[in-house]
Amino acid sequence: MIQKTYVMLKPDAVANRHIGQIIARFEAVGLTIEKLELTNVTPEQAAANYQEHQGKPFYDGLISYITSGPVVKMVLSGKNAVAITRKLMGATNPLDAAPGTIRGDFGLIMDANVVHGSDSVESAEREIAIFFA
Ligand code: RTP
Ligand code: MG
Repeated sequence: MIQKTYVMLKPDAVANRHIGQIIARFEAVGLTIEKLELTNVTPEQAAANYQEHQGKPFYDGLISYITSGPVVKMVLSGKNAVAITRKLMGATNPLDAAPGTIRGDFGLIMDANVVHGSDSVESAEREIAIFFA
């Protein structure tokens, strides 16, 4: 099934100059870059994107982190784009992410885990609307 998904290279990925290597992995499996922009996340976008985590102990840190510096936001498309993207990203905590995954190879801590990707087709539609209004 051809899907679109929302992917964001987080501030640590940009600051550590890993943009090219990470995008290359999405292209390598055959996903298509539909949209791509280097930008800053507004507090409103951050809150909308992470509304499911509101009230959790890590929420404030998550919002301040994702708005702390430039990100690369993208819309990717392809067969099973949502699941393929999550597989390439690896587990949320880089400590658990397998070597060969993006978080396993470029991340060290849960609070700065390199990349965001939509977790379902419904999330993708919602997130694309937030970031590419
Ligand atoms: P993301 O939304 O950023 O792509 O990450 P994810 O789906 O793999 O993980 P999610 O559960 O949606 O969590 C969002 C972000 O919050 C931070 N987090 N910290 N300390 C904790 O228990 C905890 N749990 C989540 C992570 O930075 C995660 O990427
Ligand atoms: Mg998530």
